[in-house]
Amino acid sequence: MFEKIKQAPADPILGLNEAFKADSRSNKINLGVGVYKDDAGRTPILGCVKAAEALILEREQTKSYLGIDGHIAYRQQIKGLLFGCDHPVVNADRVRAAQAPGGTGALRIAGDFIKSNLGDKTIWISNPSWANHKQIFTTAGLTVNQYRYYDAERRSLDFDGLMADLDTLSDNDVVVLHGCCHNPSGIDPTLAQWQQMAASAKRNGWLPLFDFAYQGFATGVDEDAAGLRYFAAELEELLIANSFSKNFGLYNERIGAVSVVAKDTDAAERSLSQIKRVIRANYSNPPSHGAEVVATVLAEPALRSQWLDELEQMRSRIKLMRGAFVKGLADAGVAGDFSFIEYQNGMFSFSGLTPAQVGQLKEEFAIYIVGSGRINVAGITNDNLPHLIAAIKAVS
Ligand code: LMR
Repeated sequence: MFEKIKQAPADPILGLNEAFKADSRSNKINLGVGVYKDDAGRTPILGCVKAAEALILEREQTKSYLGIDGHIAYRQQIKGLLFGCDHPVVNADRVRAAQAPGGTGALRIAGDFIKSNLGDKTIWISNPSWANHKQIFTTAGLTVNQYRYYDAERRSLDFDGLMADLDTLSDNDVVVLHGCCHNPSGIDPTLAQWQQMAASAKRNGWLPLFDFAYQGFATGVDEDAAGLRYFAAELEELLIANSFSKNFGLYNERIGAVSVVAKDTDAAERSLSQIKRVIRANYSNPPSHGAEVVATVLAEPALRSQWLDELEQMRSRIKLMRGAFVKGLADAGVAGDFSFIEYQNGMFSFSGLTPAQVGQLKEEFAIYIVGSGRINVAGITNDNLPHLIAAIKAVS
């Protein structure tokens, strides 16, 4: 039976990691997968996480199952982080959050929930979008389409195109919105633009699904949630998939959540009951450790403030590297204006490198970048910057 199975293509992002690990060249640089590195090229465990883990080790009493929807204190903390402490949807008890295995797991739960409860909706993702979005939703049995987002010529948001596309949609459609730090372009709407997008959702009836994987990587934890919080204040219903892989550095703990905002408490509760059905049929109930870490950090004021500091340090280092990268390219005389890289948010920069250049960087210089030209700026260090600049100059 199995002899007929064809080899699957390598994943466009995680597949690069495998190739990178197998590369024996000592000057290799991994700017593919969205993982933060410090200036020594390490992906550190945050100090607040280590401290919370010590507390957990001491306090933990049992390894018994969590509920299907996960860790109770964690699920409570999620609401505050997403919406702030005094948001109308929280005050009116219209939000329910279920723990999920990372942002990807949360998106897939959302996809299954949509398919089995809302019917054959079309999922609209931005053009371009995270390479995994399409297969998550098609695997859930949904149709996926693209709305305009990035203007490659101007290296900016094609807001007119985006609004024109969103205004053709209806209540048969679900729109995936990147809450902040758009992946891969690094270009986010302004608050005024979020407001116009929310008005389109209201006018046309499409359902927003926020993918919120980088909270705190653009400006700050609250600032980065401005678009989401505005949508939640204006609309009766939305879905959110969030992740703590990046902002807590908990990549391998697979910790995130899927949240639903509904018209009232009763509808939110019924929606959660269906989300729990999806979870039970997939993996029964989630693992505890990542949720326990996040809940502990967020509940202890000293650890929470340490977390915010550590997050700020990650955000600042990335911004510093953006500046150094742009300056390095200019100083080396690489043709073109790369100043746009400094104005993008989050880990990624859409460099404009062509697939051929990306291929050459990998083959000749051991530099790994996603095929779309997306660079993980968080992987640039003062040490690897000269090799990166020289290589880009050579392929330009
Ligand atoms: C990325 O875009 O690199 C990250 O979200 C990691 C992943 O799972 O693709």
